[in-house]
Amino acid sequence: MKVLFLNGPNLNLLGTRQPEIYGHTTLADIERRVRERAHTLNVELEFRQTNGEGQLVDWLHEARGQFQAVVLNAAAYTHTSVALRDAISALGLPVIEIHLSNIHAREEFRHHSLIAAVCRGQICGFGANSYILGLEAAVSLNALA
Ligand code: DQA
Repeated sequence: MKVLFLNGPNLNLLGTRQPEIYGHTTLADIERRVRERAHTLNVELEFRQTNGEGQLVDWLHEARGQFQAVVLNAAAYTHTSVALRDAISALGLPVIEIHLSNIHAREEFRHHSLIAAVCRGQICGFGANSYILGLEAAVSLNALA
């Protein structure tokens, strides 16, 4: 099985960005942990980050035929992007929405996810472990398929 991890804007700053919310773990640390878990689950991974909305849309388009599932931390675009929602709707692959923080316990504008309704499910609030849980969710979907 091949799983694509996509990370949106400002996640390249993890480690120093608002550590009281996001912790001290860098995105490279998270990638390393996800790769370790993926290895034990016999899953192949691609792990990418971009600050661009259009790049995320392009990567979602390209996922078709190459990956069995996408785990997506769309970061701030979660709350704003109709383009991402439409790309997920068009994809025909399961997309699992993840967040480090519990978006429902934060500012009101973060409570609403424009992508939630077109994703298979949402995992949020577990810090870096949200990524591991996202991987496990992707694997469980594949096992059920
Ligand atoms: C985030 C939550 C978003 O609201 C925020 O804009 C982010 C990170 C998270 O992982 O907790 O950039 O997606």
